[in-house]
Amino acid sequence: MYEAKKFDLPSLEGISDESVKQHIGLYEGYVKNFNAISTKLVEYAKEGTEKNALALGELIRRKSFEFDGMRLHELYFTQFEGGPKTLDEQSALGKALAAEYHGYFVEYLKAIGNMRGPGWAILYYDPAGKQFQTGFAGEQHQGHFVTLPILLALDVWEHAFILDYGATGKAKYLDAFFKNLNWGVVEKRFAAVGA
Ligand SMILES: [Fe+2]
Repeated sequence: MYEAKKFDLPSLEGISDESVKQHIGLYEGYVKNFNAISTKLVEYAKEGTEKNALALGELIRRKSFEFDGMRLHELYFTQFEGGPKTLDEQSALGKALAAEYHGYFVEYLKAIGNMRGPGWAILYYDPAGKQFQTGFAGEQHQGHFVTLPILLALDVWEHAFILDYGATGKAKYLDAFFKNLNWGVVEKRFAAVGA
């Protein structure tokens, strides 16, 4: 069984405490649902895989939705811990991002985040190919670059911003996200993948 993590978050600029509180509640829901699905799968399988084939199939399909929701939110909230910190341009990450994106990385990730539909704008790193990959994961589990570690996870579901900015306020939320981002966390993730 997984346990919901606690995050040591400062007050954020442009993302209200109430929004963060509700958002953490949603994260805890993913942990709870993942545990519940895992338990139910065992129960149904014991009862008979043929008899419960439809239920098993549906739960197995939902498993990665809940798991990825759990893990992506853990990556997301951790990025605010320690307070905002700008990217160190002399760090390994700073140099590698500049070499690949020539200063437009943040605007590029915001553009991905501004795409329609619920999902995540994500920066991955491919250690084998020695290059970054950026992508939009639909909901939480679709369109991932399988096997690639995640360096930065930007939640762009409406629940992340609707309380503070309304349904059309995603661009303002994207600005607020980067104002609060602790790039030191992202730099550490980059170092951890052996880049
Ligand atoms: Fe979220």
